[in-house]
Amino acid sequence: MKNILITGALGQLGSEIALALRAIYSNQNVVLVDIRNDINKQLIIDGPFYISDCRDREKIIQIVKKHNIDTIIHLAAILSARGEMDPPHAWDININGLTTILEIAKEFNCSLFTPSSIGAFGSSTPKDNTPQVTIQRPSSIYGITKVAGELLCDYYYNKYNVDTRGVRFPGLISYLTPPGGGTTDYAIEIFYEALRNKRYVCPIQADTYMDMLYISDAVQAVIDLMNADPNKLKHRNAYNITAMSFSPRMIANEIKKHIPEFEIVYEIDPVKQRIADSWPNKLDDSEAREQWGYNPVYDLEKMVYDMLDKISRRLCCA
Ligand SMILES: NC(=O)c1ccc[n+]([C@@H]2O[C@H](COP(=O)([O-])OP(=O)(O)OC[C@H]3O[C@@H](n4cnc5c(N)ncnc54)[C@H](O)[C@@H]3O)[C@@H](O)[C@H]2O)c1
Repeated sequence: MKNILITGALGQLGSEIALALRAIYSNQNVVLVDIRNDINKQLIIDGPFYISDCRDREKIIQIVKKHNIDTIIHLAAILSARGEMDPPHAWDININGLTTILEIAKEFNCSLFTPSSIGAFGSSTPKDNTPQVTIQRPSSIYGITKVAGELLCDYYYNKYNVDTRGVRFPGLISYLTPPGGGTTDYAIEIFYEALRNKRYVCPIQADTYMDMLYISDAVQAVIDLMNADPNKLKHRNAYNITAMSFSPRMIANEIKKHIPEFEIVYEIDPVKQRIADSWPNKLDDSEAREQWGYNPVYDLEKMVYDMLDKISRRLCCA
């Protein structure tokens, strides 16, 4: 990686990857693209930023040529809960966006990272220790686009030798940028409500388990996978990765250790619950650990401590 383009760069994940990569590769060498510019102003000021739709082939090509891009980190997407509100739009952005970027990666010989998700699994997938290669029949439009995206990455690697790399991210937990409408967003909202109101109304049932990953481990995973020896990578669609699996009851109990008066109550959102029920409880990520050294640092206890610390500082300075 020398000259990097990030699409969807102002989002929850993109903003953190942009910061980390600019610290390593310099501001000028990490070029950001998004359809919005109303958030994360510092990232927009610090280095190259363009408002562009990832489906706008001509504009993305101009940017790739101008900055001599060799690596694309394609994050622009519509997430799971939002996708259910307008499935054709989710398909359009997630699939036509990805195929536009794959074509450009092919034409300009760029390496490409693009994430899949635990949403690429469905209720017929084994729920515990979900294998790397297994049944993938998701019921959400988001999951369907993620399975198709994984297959497209395999296709471009096998047919055109495009250097595609990806992971199946679990729910990402972070504090810099608000989440973009996923099923695991509760695991972020709960911290703000615990600190502000000592009470959280949770849209997911108390004992629904899902995999999660703290943002610094997610960013490190992208960097490690992009720097990995290509000869060691057996999968070009997406690797299972996780760091912790917990339920709303478990994260609430962990928060109570720091805020004893905190209480959680449940008002279930049927759309989110149906999606959550169809996802695995815990992925098997041994292939990522063996083939490119994936090794997350944060478990539930450390993550909760750090989130409360960081968010309480933000709230008191706001
Ligand atoms: N956040 C999670 O928990 C999670 C979990 C699994 C996988 N992922 C995947 O990681 C990637 C990034 O997710 P995120 O959480 O940062 O999402 P997000 O919604 O926070 O950010 C997505 C960004 O893409 C931009 N965008 C949307 N449509 C665009 C378009 N047509 N052209 C250019 N930009 C566009 C949005 O403005 C937004 O800033 C996605 O592929 C998502 O599926 C995220």
